[in-house]
Amino acid sequence: MKSLDQVLSASGAPADLQKLILALAQTCAEISAKVRLGALAGVLGEAGSDNVQGEHQKKLDLIANDLLVNHLSSAKVALALGSEEMDHAVVVPGGAPYLVAFDPLDGSSNIDVNVSIGTIFSVLPAPAGKTPGDEDFLQPGERQVAAGYAVYGPSTELVFSLGRGVQAFTLDNQGRWLMTVEKMTIAPAAKEFAINASNSRFWYAPVQRYISELQAGKTGPRGKDFNMRWVASMVADVHRILCRGGVFLYPADQRDPAKPGKLRLLYEANPMSFLVEQAGGVSTNGHERILSLQPTKLHERVAVFLGAKEEIDLVTGYHR
Ligand code: AHG
Ligand code: MN
Ligand code: MN
Repeated sequence: MKSLDQVLSASGAPADLQKLILALAQTCAEISAKVRLGALAGVLGEAGSDNVQGEHQKKLDLIANDLLVNHLSSAKVALALGSEEMDHAVVVPGGAPYLVAFDPLDGSSNIDVNVSIGTIFSVLPAPAGKTPGDEDFLQPGERQVAAGYAVYGPSTELVFSLGRGVQAFTLDNQGRWLMTVEKMTIAPAAKEFAINASNSRFWYAPVQRYISELQAGKTGPRGKDFNMRWVASMVADVHRILCRGGVFLYPADQRDPAKPGKLRLLYEANPMSFLVEQAGGVSTNGHERILSLQPTKLHERVAVFLGAKEEIDLVTGYHR
């Protein structure tokens, strides 16, 4: 089996980008070690604070954030770091010319119940000749030079793309990442969908229509049955789609019409959309391709429809 180092050196990626991916991978291995020990490492439960978006922070949200900030800044692999758990980007003087945006711990509601969680990252080019600030992160997702996630599940896997397909690595007991899938792909047709159905009464008409057609199965207009899964960790739901297909939806809804969705564009939707497109799938906000959107703020939210091409084309078409 090929190691992460071997795959990176053969990738043709710039040396500083390889170093950045290795630093992210090492940090995720450390987060994984804490996640594995759970209560024994004292990492479960509430931190007692809120982030800039008013969400309660868990201890592990902050531990994972600190590990990422400390490692990436001491290794000087990026010029600035943006995180779900930090109001503003942190500058790394003398860092390599990349900006990294991350969701240090995705699926916070699953931490204390021992269900899969993860870390999501997005790598953008840094602007030349200036000290970067929050505004420099506001680049469309199609400019990402790398994106990926680690999933802390029954095994720990690292999935990423440098823009030439999607590979998966599994962490062994010696802390080595070994390539276990050379090319992840998403079939155009799907049999599974993921959505938080408890919000159904708030959905807009196009989503109501699409989901009710899936639920009608063989007896409805689609003429086939669909299965439903919702882990409530985007990392785990998207990982399942990269492994065996399907679609994931987190639409905007009428609970708060001013809110364009729950998930964050820069460190959830963009990196996952990059992976999904690299695997042959499609990702939209119901209207437009997510990777083409011009972000307007660091913690911007967006509606997400991603996965199998035929399904995402259909539900996006329902919005026209
Ligand atoms: P985070 O833990 O980083 O705040 O993200 C949670 C997100 C995402 O991972 C997941 O798909 C979604 O929130 C779950 O939302 P519901 O609570 O509506 O199930
Ligand atoms: Mn998240
Ligand atoms: Mn998070």
